[in-house]
Amino acid sequence: MTATIPAPEVYTPLIAPSIPRPAPSPFTPVLADIVESDRIFAETLANHRSPVAPMIRHLRHYRGKRLRPALVFLSARACGPVAPAHHILAAAVEMIHTATLVHDDVLDEADTRRHNASFNAEWGNKVSILFGDMLFTHAFHLTSTVDGRACQLIGAATNKVCAGELLQTRERGNWHLSEDEYFAMIDGKTAALTEVSTRLGALYAGATAEVAERLATYGHSLGIAFQIADDLLDLTGEEAKAGKTLGTDLEQQKMTLPLIHALNTLPTAEADEFRALLQNPGPHRREAVTDTLIRSGSLQYAKRTAEEHARTARACLDGLPKSECRAILEQLTEWSIRREK
Ligand code: IPE
Ligand code: IPE
Ligand code: MG
Ligand code: MG
Repeated sequence: MTATIPAPEVYTPLIAPSIPRPAPSPFTPVLADIVESDRIFAETLANHRSPVAPMIRHLRHYRGKRLRPALVFLSARACGPVAPAHHILAAAVEMIHTATLVHDDVLDEADTRRHNASFNAEWGNKVSILFGDMLFTHAFHLTSTVDGRACQLIGAATNKVCAGELLQTRERGNWHLSEDEYFAMIDGKTAALTEVSTRLGALYAGATAEVAERLATYGHSLGIAFQIADDLLDLTGEEAKAGKTLGTDLEQQKMTLPLIHALNTLPTAEADEFRALLQNPGPHRREAVTDTLIRSGSLQYAKRTAEEHARTARACLDGLPKSECRAILEQLTEWSIRREK
């Protein structure tokens, strides 16, 4: 069963405040906060003229699930009140996430993102790299309007994201990558940003250091579960539902958990054959790869591992007072591994 979570279209779009209010959703308690962080996001970029303006306009249609802003606000409300700093920080984190997607699509040669053309499909790699850089610098400029602590936390998280993407790119085609190395990669490229989102939410709501740490660990484990599920989607999901180019992990020879498991558990001759399949592009390769991964129990293994991390995330919430937002954070652990987009 797919857990309920608002589709991106339930949010008020960037720079288009005249669109009717979204329908009630599990994010209802923080929907107004998400709308406010969207406004700050748009306002931050609003003054650009040619040649950047068309790219900024593209962002109107390039809207994701807003998971990271939602994590900021849900974590805040699970601990205390939402403050103006939360809206700025949520906008900054979403901007950094968007920058990483713009760059990631260049690396993955992906032409679709968020049910739209990717920046590289529309403007090419060079412009996309520079536009992604601009989003990063805007995000840090925006964060500096809060305080030095926020700059430090978001800076450290972004460093980890970049290191994770670097490690992944360097290790392309390394069929001997270990599970530990895979986890080091996704710790950086995905979990660092979900972790800082929940940490910032808690800290700027006045949470104690212990509660902030708990929520940060929640965000981290959620990010790990989310990325393993994303890697499974890349192998078995549907592009029409996901709204992005799938199969790029195989195309780019990126090792993910099911592949690592299969190569480590298949009998030697079959593992060699599987490695040859991974190395050679060809028609129907995705189907052939998933057939093997089903046979070796590797898709199931990755699913179980994602479930374990989702459970770890849920357990981090145990000590928090019961509230609507805590309940949504609990639901998100389930959704992060069952989603189709
Ligand atoms: C995509 O993140 C990149 C990964 C970490 C897998 P999301 O799935 O949150 O992307 P959007 O923001 O909804 O487009
Ligand atoms: C990228 O991971 C995570 C980022 C830091 C951008 P993926 O390459 O799996 O993300 P998708 O599948 O393109 O969204
Ligand atoms: Mg990608
Ligand atoms: Mg992916």
